[in-house]
Amino acid sequence: MLTKDVAGTAVMDKPETAGKPKAVAPATKAQKIYIDGQFYDHADAKISVFDHGLLYGDGVFEGIRFYNGRVFRMEEHMERLWESARSICIEIPMSRRDLDAALLETIRQNDLRDGYVRLVVTRGVGNLGLNPAQCKRSSIIIIAAKVALYPEEVYRRGLTVVTVATRRMGPATLNPAIKSLNYLNNILARIEANLSQADEALMLNDAGNIAECTADNVFIVKRGQIMTPPITAGALRGITRSVVFDIAAELGIKISEPDLTRHDLYIADEAFLTGTAAEVIPMVRVDGRIIGNGEAGAITTRTIARFRELTRKSGTPIFSE
Ligand SMILES: Cc1ncc(COP(=O)(O)O)c(C=O)c1O
Repeated sequence: MLTKDVAGTAVMDKPETAGKPKAVAPATKAQKIYIDGQFYDHADAKISVFDHGLLYGDGVFEGIRFYNGRVFRMEEHMERLWESARSICIEIPMSRRDLDAALLETIRQNDLRDGYVRLVVTRGVGNLGLNPAQCKRSSIIIIAAKVALYPEEVYRRGLTVVTVATRRMGPATLNPAIKSLNYLNNILARIEANLSQADEALMLNDAGNIAECTADNVFIVKRGQIMTPPITAGALRGITRSVVFDIAAELGIKISEPDLTRHDLYIADEAFLTGTAAEVIPMVRVDGRIIGNGEAGAITTRTIARFRELTRKSGTPIFSE
């Protein structure tokens, strides 16, 4: 997840424990932030305190990466954004084509070729009541920034994860399939991981099965096959998750979506996490247990390599070529 440092620069989570992502380098020129059709300097990029995105976490978002001048899996991210908005009855006040153009233009305005773009759609300005009927027009915010990955060494060494007490919400509460601005469930889990000095929090659903981590999907490898929890277990339909399905098909590795328990993870040969910010990253220790031989496994390593190749070679061009 991206957060902001005191200066307002986009940064990855604070490096409190080893393996946490480090603060980003500043963009090459002053950051330009898109709000509802206009670009603002960092200091002037402001929205109303009556926006329900702020008052109630009422809105949806996407975190999208671009590599080497191309937006990775842009269409899938946009599709998910529009689906999240539709699910919570937010009408995005522009066409899909125009929003695509605004996203690309924001990256161009910031003169970046590699980075992360946060696309936010809030319910818009209303009054202090929660009724969204008060909000006449949703707002669109687009922020492009440089991103720092976990240090390269962590992609070899792997992450330490703990199971937390906070359960992932079920689809009957706030469906985890909606990528909404309401992340308190994940944040509470993240706080538990921080307090345990772990890199990430493993979240279970109410049935006790693995759902996901706070901003990543979970994968295990057992006897040469890849497994990941189904969406119905409370996992976001991750875009990186879907790339792993493509890679598995390409490499001829069987992949399936059974319900998984912590036991399955403890006895896995390999495990890894996927997410737009973290990419594909090994998980080598869970709840004090060593996974497999405690190092990034062969299938994980091949998946990381192929993922990186795809990020370098595919995507929607940002600049005219
Ligand atoms: C809760 C949650 N699960 C999983 C993911 C991974 O999804 P993606 O690969 O689309 O970034 C994210 C990040 O977007 C997330 O916030």
